[in-house]
Amino acid sequence: MNELDALVDSARQGFEQAATPADLENAKAVFLGKSGRITELMKGLASLSIDEKKARGAVINQAKQAIEAALNARRQALADAELDAQLKAEALDVSLPGRQAGQGGLHPVSLTLERIEGIFGSMGFDVAQGPEIESDWFNFTALNTPEDHPARSMHDTFYVEGGSAKAPNLLRTHTSPMQIRHAVQHVNSHRALLDAGETMPEIRVIAPGRTYRVDSDATHSPMFHQCEGLWIGANVSFKDLKVVFTDFCRTFFESDDLVLRFRPSFFPFTEPSAEIDIQFQSGPLAGRWLEVAGSGQVHPNVVRNMGLDPEKYIGFAFGMGPDRLTMLRYGVNDLRLFFDGDIRFLSQFQ
Ligand code: PHE
Repeated sequence: MNELDALVDSARQGFEQAATPADLENAKAVFLGKSGRITELMKGLASLSIDEKKARGAVINQAKQAIEAALNARRQALADAELDAQLKAEALDVSLPGRQAGQGGLHPVSLTLERIEGIFGSMGFDVAQGPEIESDWFNFTALNTPEDHPARSMHDTFYVEGGSAKAPNLLRTHTSPMQIRHAVQHVNSHRALLDAGETMPEIRVIAPGRTYRVDSDATHSPMFHQCEGLWIGANVSFKDLKVVFTDFCRTFFESDDLVLRFRPSFFPFTEPSAEIDIQFQSGPLAGRWLEVAGSGQVHPNVVRNMGLDPEKYIGFAFGMGPDRLTMLRYGVNDLRLFFDGDIRFLSQFQ
């Protein structure tokens, strides 16, 4: 092998070994650069005769072209490899099964509200919804709690814009205003019957929803839930309340091993009034009295504000805490967990 063939060979090898375009440019400089091997050979021509120059120059040129060809081939190969790698990296595998969209679930308190609606629905109760921004009249006055009534201080109320200076609008502190709203609507829709001196169909309704009080700790949240219940008719008694609420609790907690206690209490809109406590006879909560609702026979003044004659219509109301019921049902010990929006907590209820 002559000297030039050997040079071409070593250039090919050098290019072949270059793994990156930068390596290749370095290898190129060794052979084709300003002080590269080919340039050196060209410089050597200066000392030759014209004929010798021609012959030797032609051979050097051939070698140079062979080296350039090898260089270009390697450049192309490296570029192809890079493109290949890129295509592979960015490839979209259309045969891969798609990612499943994450499945959401109902909030535990929503699950409880659905349960409550289902159980009371099966006992013939309608479900009513009402506004969370409420007037002083529906939240307090119509519920036998006039201005300056000390019972108003039982509720730490959020007041909002609107209403009058003496009776500003507020965020409802309980769902009880729905007693009035729903009853008035019911009475109006049976106006003709009532005017004819006949008895209207009973009011049997629950009103679940959000309520607000200035209060915040492990068992109180400024926003919480209540569910109101109201049953008004010509002959509805406290006994009915006991039966209905006992039935509800046993169905809700899926346990007959559960007793209720009606503990005398005070609410301006019921008389007599009672707190309803429950006690499990077995299980982790056994033996403790747990308060779940306020209740009572609807006060004659409230019946009057519904547009009904308290001599003819009587009934009971209750207000329970779905948040509390959810905590008891699932064994949750901090109410705030329900409203933190932590997916690790919430996904356990799916
Ligand atoms: N509204 C009362 C409360 O928030 C509960 C209640 C409702 C009591 C209906 C009696 C009758 O504490």
